[in-house]
Amino acid sequence: MANKPFLTDIKTLRARARKHIQNGAVTEGYKADRKTVIKLLNEALATEIVCVLRYKRHYFMATGIHAESVAAEFLQHANEEQGHADEIGARIVQLGGEPNLNPEGLLTRSHAEYVEGDGLIDMIKEDLVAERIAIDSYREMINYLGNDDPTSRRMLEGILAMEEEHADDLVSLLGELGK
Ligand SMILES: [Fe+2]
Ligand SMILES: [Fe+2]
Repeated sequence: MANKPFLTDIKTLRARARKHIQNGAVTEGYKADRKTVIKLLNEALATEIVCVLRYKRHYFMATGIHAESVAAEFLQHANEEQGHADEIGARIVQLGGEPNLNPEGLLTRSHAEYVEGDGLIDMIKEDLVAERIAIDSYREMINYLGNDDPTSRRMLEGILAMEEEHADDLVSLLGELGK
């Protein structure tokens, strides 16, 4: 039985790379459905933007005796969600797509909700719910991508790990506040 070659031969590899060079990072070997990946990433982008807005709102509205440390946490999360949005936007462009930052329809595209919350505890709980939604949707996207787009998958894995930290932080805050 002949050994099955698992790598493309160099000649084919070189010839393929010369075709459609305007596609940049997207080569013929790109295995995922590019359109679907861009759509999923745009939903993730909308989710991150909604999370930035919600955390910012909570940051400004945090009042009461425990407000200072909680507000600091809200602000840190808001900044980290913005970082995620930037990573996702850049990847969409790399894949030949356009980041959808249109405020119209933002909430429909987003997985997480924008809930203002009534008081500190309520805000933390709403943020926790949003993080748990993000965690599940990122996990699904990661599974969907599998080995078809390892770069997007690794990016999403990094983001997922941070959303899990966020959820953990929020649970700790609730614990500290005795809720
Ligand atoms: Fe995020
Ligand atoms: Fe988060």
